[in-house]
Amino acid sequence: MPLIHVRRDEHIWWLGLDRPSKHNALDQAMVDEADAVLTEARMRPCVLIVHSTTPGVFAAGADIAELRDRDANAALLAINAGLFERLEAHRWPTIALIDGPALGGGCELALACDFRIATQNAVFAQPELSLGIIAGAGANWRLPQLAGLATARRMLFAGERLDAAEALATGLVDEVAGSAEELAERGRTLATAIAKRSWRALELTKLALRSSRPSTTTFDLAAQALLFDGDDKHARMTAFLERRNR
Ligand code: COA
Repeated sequence: MPLIHVRRDEHIWWLGLDRPSKHNALDQAMVDEADAVLTEARMRPCVLIVHSTTPGVFAAGADIAELRDRDANAALLAINAGLFERLEAHRWPTIALIDGPALGGGCELALACDFRIATQNAVFAQPELSLGIIAGAGANWRLPQLAGLATARRMLFAGERLDAAEALATGLVDEVAGSAEELAERGRTLATAIAKRSWRALELTKLALRSSRPSTTTFDLAAQALLFDGDDKHARMTAFLERRNR
């Protein structure tokens, strides 16, 4: 069964996260499917909308069952970090629609998009440090750039969760919609407005904005590789999985 559901609506492509049994936790198969969609979506102009096919859910982060057994080599492969780099570098604008928890890599996925629209169901958090790892797929630099260093510290160091109103106040999201239906409608309206403009000029403007955006992913990958080979991460992830399995 596919884990990514794609719908093409003229110049809007809907990339739907479709792994409801695991709250859309991103495993390798899902990352590979999302990558394939991105590659295809580069071939002709489109605004890409990243959303969940399940109401009340966005994404619960990287798949902890897979993450627990990844080593330093896997960290350097940059599985999620690489996907989010390619998403941020997508030729045309991208929009994340968030109608539920966006945790860890789920929050980083939303951060890698050009726009974020949420509902009251949205919750944003970076629980990685509780699991013995860093938020190595972009939150260490995209979060402070977007929501400010103080908010980034609260979320990364203390594990604080932001609701939709707090996310709006800090700039983490651009808009809050009143319902899941309104969320889709707002995403469509924004995408339609963008799609009326010159695709080539949009593409060049995205490149122009990216040229002033410093990235620290290289440091994050090295730091994550160190942590992936440690016992602390394995013990903490096992605790998460065993609590859930009881
Ligand atoms: N990786 C792997 N599996 C995950 C997961 C993740 N990141 N998040 C949720 N799941 C799984 C659970 O293990 C559970 O699987 P099971 O039904 O086979 O036991 C299933 O998804 C449902 O999750 P559950 O915790 O029972 O649902 P909930 O409604 O009580 O809570 C969340 C939902 C998302 C709040 C909670 O699952 C959670 O906190 N997940 C982990 C988030 C996290 O730390 N992400 C960072 C990863 S780097």
